[in-house]
Amino acid sequence: MIRGDGIGPELVDSALTVLDAVADFPIELVDVQAGAGAYRAEGSALSDAGLAVIREADATLKGPVGLPDVRQSDGTEAGLLGGILRNGLDLYANVRPITLLPGVRSALRVDDGIDYVIVRENTEGLYASRGKGVGNDHAMTDTLLVTRAGCERIAHFAFTLASRRSGAPADGVRRVTCVDKANVLRSMYFFRSVFLEVAEQYPDIEAECLYVDAAAQALVLAPEHFDVIVTENLFGDILSDLGGGTVGGIALCPSGNIGDSHAYFEPIHGSAPTIAGQDRANPLGQILATAMLLDHLGERAAGDRIRGAVRAALRGGSVRLNPDGTVASGTRSTTDAVLAALG
Ligand code: IPM
Ligand code: MN
Repeated sequence: MIRGDGIGPELVDSALTVLDAVADFPIELVDVQAGAGAYRAEGSALSDAGLAVIREADATLKGPVGLPDVRQSDGTEAGLLGGILRNGLDLYANVRPITLLPGVRSALRVDDGIDYVIVRENTEGLYASRGKGVGNDHAMTDTLLVTRAGCERIAHFAFTLASRRSGAPADGVRRVTCVDKANVLRSMYFFRSVFLEVAEQYPDIEAECLYVDAAAQALVLAPEHFDVIVTENLFGDILSDLGGGTVGGIALCPSGNIGDSHAYFEPIHGSAPTIAGQDRANPLGQILATAMLLDHLGERAAGDRIRGAVRAALRGGSVRLNPDGTVASGTRSTTDAVLAALG
């Protein structure tokens, strides 16, 4: 586990209590220092030794990282650490479920619920240019990379997820929506073309394509239409925060960074250093990320128990959310409410 910066350690502590309550199998936990604190202390956001530990692990639970006063010229160390882990371990699928939980008020008027998953391509796209932009005082260029192999594997991942996931769109039609900008960028036309080639191998799942601007509107006006969305890295970054905003805020949103050999799980929000240590941070994103980690380890029943307990705690009113993403019920009491719902 990476406890991270700001509110990270208190969130990871909270998630570990919940993990301990559901795990009926032994777990060996290893702490790895990473993020802004590690960068300040050791001059590196993640040491080689730390990366080696993560490589050895079955999965990693990661708290948010980053501090405003620790920055590098080519981006924050939070961005840097993302690059080390996501590209270094080839974690090509960033899986971001967007689910409206019971007792949570959506900013939208929704009758049919919100329950879809954004699969964000995590190793290419515009982020391939992370820290590599070229230019001078007058102009800078960053390059968006789309490879056939990268598109194929993320498309296969999205269709496989659509065939297995339990949630469904309101009309009951299993579908994967490719979100791109094929009308303007040749790289995006390529992304769409490869997606449609792969789609032919999944005749039972509807394949559709949407331009990213239209998708942004549809996620607000008709979120119940969506099942699995597959998209380029930067589009996925932006749309997952938009989606989070429609289900009570990103404080409630977990994610998995998944490759063929390694994976780590984290909430999609940041380290909120201004509220660190005040018992105000919402631990539910981190707790739900732990449930995704358990699914990944093949412990689906334990993951389901956590999700069920979070829903019950929200439904029962013992967890109270503030509009700014913090918890009026406090980090520790919110965790206790989830533990109580676990029984
Ligand atoms: C995310 C975050 C990261 C990203 C930041 C911290 C570099 O916003 O995981 O969505 O942009 O990918
Ligand atoms: Mn983001």
